[in-house]
Amino acid sequence: MCGIIGYIGKRKALPVLINGLKKLEYRGYDSAGVAFTRDGSLRIKRSVGKLINLEASASDEDSGNIGIGHTRWATHGKPSEENAHPHRAGKIVLVHNGIIENYLDLKNRLIAKGHEFKSETDTEVIAHLIEECIKGGNRFEPAVQKALSQVRGAYALCIMHEDEPDKLIAAKNGCPIALGLGDGESFVASDIPAILEYTRKVIFMDDLEMAIITSQGIEIKDLTGTPKKKEPIDISWNPVMAEKGGYKHFMHKEIHEQPMAIMNTMMGRISLDSGMVSLDDLELSDSGIKGLDKIYIVACGTSWHAALIGKYMIEDIARIPVEVDLGSEFRYRDPIIGKDDLLIAISQSGETADTLAAIREARSKDAKVISICNVVGSSSARESDGVLYTHAGPEIGVASTKAFTSQLAALFLLTLYIGQAKGTLSEARGMELVSDFVRIPALIEEILRSDSEILKVARKYFRCRDFIYLGRGINYPVALEGALKLKEVSYIHAEGYPAGEMKHGPIALIDENMPVVVLAPMDKVYEKVMNNVMEVKAREGMIIAIVNNGDHKISSKADDLIFIPKTDQILTPILSTIPLQMLAYHIAVLRGTDVDQPRNLAKSVTVE
Ligand code: AGP
Repeated sequence: MCGIIGYIGKRKALPVLINGLKKLEYRGYDSAGVAFTRDGSLRIKRSVGKLINLEASASDEDSGNIGIGHTRWATHGKPSEENAHPHRAGKIVLVHNGIIENYLDLKNRLIAKGHEFKSETDTEVIAHLIEECIKGGNRFEPAVQKALSQVRGAYALCIMHEDEPDKLIAAKNGCPIALGLGDGESFVASDIPAILEYTRKVIFMDDLEMAIITSQGIEIKDLTGTPKKKEPIDISWNPVMAEKGGYKHFMHKEIHEQPMAIMNTMMGRISLDSGMVSLDDLELSDSGIKGLDKIYIVACGTSWHAALIGKYMIEDIARIPVEVDLGSEFRYRDPIIGKDDLLIAISQSGETADTLAAIREARSKDAKVISICNVVGSSSARESDGVLYTHAGPEIGVASTKAFTSQLAALFLLTLYIGQAKGTLSEARGMELVSDFVRIPALIEEILRSDSEILKVARKYFRCRDFIYLGRGINYPVALEGALKLKEVSYIHAEGYPAGEMKHGPIALIDENMPVVVLAPMDKVYEKVMNNVMEVKAREGMIIAIVNNGDHKISSKADDLIFIPKTDQILTPILSTIPLQMLAYHIAVLRGTDVDQPRNLAKSVTVE
């Protein structure tokens, strides 16, 4: 996610802006910039790469007492100085976190009115929109209100007007903004760490609110201009806790960020009216899709688990054969892949050496390559014909959580897109799936509220030495992912297995010391899973069952239950993964391991 800082008050603005952006570096970024007043005129400095580059470019500047700053995590438009924030249009300059869904429509309308754009970003459109409203006779504040009434999507904005250097305007919808109240000074930040050393008195804005910020105080209004009364709160966090948003570990924070991550990944790509999916950057034509003989999905680790789930999705809906392979295996087996095949490479970092090698192998055999990736401008993205970005924001914890479920969301979007192009997905079924999909973030929120129940289960089993995870069908890869999460953060040996395979050997492992985590949603193989549960119970095994709300059968046999809401079978993995992430996290914390940086592991394996 991007980082925002704004300041107005008794200090020189530039040092406060740079210092604030440094406190937001943990959010990850690829470029940065500041805007401030100097002798009555607006100055803008932007740079690609780390903040030291921005500091160097602004080192000889002597700023006034008002300014805004930004660290950019690219979502629209590659990392570059032109795409870095702040963005300016006439006398308006602003910084933005979020995704504007209808930015292309707005941009085309503004170009038709003579506006010239310098960047590829959705953010610049907002600056021109406000300027257009000012040209229409509105003053700064009403122009912002009028502009935002035309915008659809998520935003956290901090805005300056060159001719009104006594105020900042902030606006929020879907992305966090914290406002800091100081003595003769005020602050705007996307996250508390940026302002904690200056003030602990903070107001958190709510959606569809705007704030008029001066050195003497802050006025909150809704977008109609009606004032809203909001009491500041005192923040007791220390700076390190603040980077984690009050969570003890990044992994826990990122587990809880999944509703927003999936919402940002789906935003602007589905139509609720038609059920249609649009994936602009994919470079995959309908005729290209219709001509596909086979799809390969290649990845590593958790991303490989996503690939396995993608196979179930695509074969179910698009009826194209899918072969899944590990990045470390694919290129060594001289794969039978060619110009009528598609390779999908899945990588959170976009820098995993084994996956990159698979991309190069596929391209050397004239296959079309698309990447599902979480980092704009990464190697995977640059070496592919097309890209489907997840918008999970930077994932700091080594154990992948929000990136994984965002990959599943991206694979689901791709599945619908391919099914619609091939004509294998009816309009009715498409509408059904899209309406189930948009409910997923809320269903995840429901599961996240059971954090304390899952902690109880973790307390019961955290001393165990071995775990088995079982699943069938589309939930078999979820069993693999649950086992990997436990292994990598708690160092407990765990195996994921197809439930139907137990009787072919692994059931010899079952005794009263072996917890067995079973994915048991009410789907077409539920009765089969019930039999597997009975097999384990007959051998004194302990069953931790992940079941749907309202389940009565398996839940009467299990030793411990974790409930998840019901959804379409093809979307269940997004939900059934969440409790497994939470279970692994709590067990690891109880065992005292280094949850965010587990031993022997790296966040991105850039070597073979
Ligand atoms: C997942 O929790 C692990 N950190 C690891 O398996 C990871 O998924 C794998 O290294 C692939 O990384 P990538 O998605 O960045 O390519």
